[in-house]
Amino acid sequence: MVKTKRLDFISMGQAMLVHFVTDEPGKIPAIRAMLEPEHRVVAQLLGTGEANTDSNSVLMVDADLRVSVRVEQIKLLMRKLRSITERLFVVQSHLQHMVAQAYALGATGVLRSSREIVPKLAQMEILARAAAQAQPSAEAAEIADSAKAFAAMFAAIKRGKPIDLSDAENATSQIVNYVETNGLSAWLDDVRKYHEGTFQHCLLVTGVAVGFALDIGFKGADVKRLGLAATLHDVGKAHIPLSILDKPGRLDPDEEQTMRRHPVIGYELLEDLPGVSPEVLDGVRHHHEYLDGSGYPDALKAPQIPDLVRLLTISDIFAALVETRSYKPPKSRQDAYNILCGMDQKLERPLVKAFRRVALAA
Ligand SMILES: [Fe+2]
Ligand SMILES: [Fe+2]
Repeated sequence: MVKTKRLDFISMGQAMLVHFVTDEPGKIPAIRAMLEPEHRVVAQLLGTGEANTDSNSVLMVDADLRVSVRVEQIKLLMRKLRSITERLFVVQSHLQHMVAQAYALGATGVLRSSREIVPKLAQMEILARAAAQAQPSAEAAEIADSAKAFAAMFAAIKRGKPIDLSDAENATSQIVNYVETNGLSAWLDDVRKYHEGTFQHCLLVTGVAVGFALDIGFKGADVKRLGLAATLHDVGKAHIPLSILDKPGRLDPDEEQTMRRHPVIGYELLEDLPGVSPEVLDGVRHHHEYLDGSGYPDALKAPQIPDLVRLLTISDIFAALVETRSYKPPKSRQDAYNILCGMDQKLERPLVKAFRRVALAA
């Protein structure tokens, strides 16, 4: 909690706020000269004024701890400022024996001279950033696990190793649990915050497909089957160059042709793997087919396209439209849904209608 709060004010690019408390007015200009304008300083003379301050600030106390009246004033102050988590006391080196007193008063750190505040703040910034990266929220950690499974799957394929189906199944189960517990909107928001490119796409498609399956009343095994098809639907992209996958803007005809190979590549990677169901294989190979026969790679027509594939195709298109890419703004969920509605000959109308609840749910 504390680390998240601190991250907030660092990540907004704001200066740190230092609440400086001293018993010597002459020390205030010196602190201001050291820290401003890079940081903000709120100065308070011990025993005077209100102690209100932002709990995100850093408390710095520079007072003579040998004087009992000062100690009493500090005790009072610390009770009012207990929400501040970083409390630094200046204890001059010749008063080394006062260090214990500082900690007894609630210090979280001791500075040997007031000048040490400058490197201390820099160090705190670095630590806060590292801690924030190392300790994402529980939800972000769950997404990170799923993303890791995707990354491992793609890396293995690139190295010519077979896909580990249990990894894909675990990633799918994690996403099913997340969407069941937190809802699809939370999944969409969080994935788009933390991931990019193909991994973001795979995470989004799987979340959307799972949300769709749950919404239309699929039961456990069917939700997992559609989820697994979504998890694996673009594995063939592991063999498509990144220059094409991440190209900003439209692909030229040659690049488009290369890109269009990914469903067959994915199918070939999976077809001999024990335990992959025909429905999942179908989803991987045919998620770019359209009911009117204009899709690829096999230009299937409506009767040849199973229901699971139709659900997957809708989820795939929707996820691609709401993705965040560095070079284009994402479509809103409403705009993305409107585009699906305009693909009347290609997608099954009743399914698109049913998808409305999933697409637009808050
Ligand atoms: Fe695809
Ligand atoms: Fe896709």
